[in-house]
Amino acid sequence: MNIFIKGLPKVELHLHIEGSLEPELMFELAKRNQISIPFTSPQEVKAAYQFNNLQSFLDIYYQGANVLIHEQDFYDLTWAYLLRCQQDNVIHTEIFFDPQTHTARGIAFETVINGIDKALKQGKQELGISSQIIMCFLRHLDQDSAFETLQHALPFKDKIIGVGLDSSEDGHPPEKFTEVFQSAIEHGFLTVAHAGEEGPAENIHNAMKLLGISRVDHGVRCVEDPKLVQQLIDDRTPLTVCPLSNTKLKVFEEMKDHNIVQLLRQGLCVTINSDDPAYFGGYMTDNFMAVAEALPITQEELVKLSLNAIEASFISDNEKQKLTDKVMEFNQEISTASN
Ligand code: HPA
Ligand code: ZN
Repeated sequence: MNIFIKGLPKVELHLHIEGSLEPELMFELAKRNQISIPFTSPQEVKAAYQFNNLQSFLDIYYQGANVLIHEQDFYDLTWAYLLRCQQDNVIHTEIFFDPQTHTARGIAFETVINGIDKALKQGKQELGISSQIIMCFLRHLDQDSAFETLQHALPFKDKIIGVGLDSSEDGHPPEKFTEVFQSAIEHGFLTVAHAGEEGPAENIHNAMKLLGISRVDHGVRCVEDPKLVQQLIDDRTPLTVCPLSNTKLKVFEEMKDHNIVQLLRQGLCVTINSDDPAYFGGYMTDNFMAVAEALPITQEELVKLSLNAIEASFISDNEKQKLTDKVMEFNQEISTASN
């Protein structure tokens, strides 16, 4: 199973680039940019990663992002993530970034987007990994700030496929951002939103109704509303599920309690993703492996998870077919080899 999972071509749809900042790079950037951080070694940083809910993680995560200052820093961050993608056989990735985390510190929007974009272009050329960029609004901030961020993004529309919604779900429901999402759609952006991670199924319902979303990020609490589950199945609205994130942030106590296999078997378009791999202990292969170790899942279902992610991605039908062929080729080869 391990060899199968490692080799399986994968597509990632829920990855916060700031959440791929490994402690070693955090230290290097802190030194390079003369930013003081409250740790004396990368080991000490890792030891501080003990979370009991989403907020306890977010507090540390925003602090970590303070070391990112120059375009080169965003490039280095993204390139390091792409090298991990290569190791895990991730063939396509759609990454989030949080502009407000940086613009609030006086970093220009263009510094952030240009650094990320440069690395992604190089990733396509040198590693053969295709990608898209989604910018997220921070939901703990107000809608005016989101509108301002949307304005910042307009000159870079060719680099950004969609907008999303992240940060603290508790107390900041999707309806707070109805107008800015409407405006984003009018400007031609696709939309997604974190919903039903810590918050109730009602947030998923409202994100679908009011924000025009093409995918639900997390969405695991949909099970609390059987009618909503049926709608997700009927519409094939994808869920970008993040197993290691969910157990680290106590959405599920342990991996054996996770509902991902149940959702898959009910016919939902579920996918596996790493969310913030530097903070939650693993990239794509680690997430697939953690699920396969704790839950009853077949090779066929693991393949289905990859195919679901291709279906749910923001690429052309032609590109989807090419990625599907890669997955099916791998599956064929491995089945032939084991017979
Ligand atoms: N949820 C909400 N906000 C986030 C997350 C998450 O899992 N990761 C980074 N920002
Ligand atoms: Zn997330």
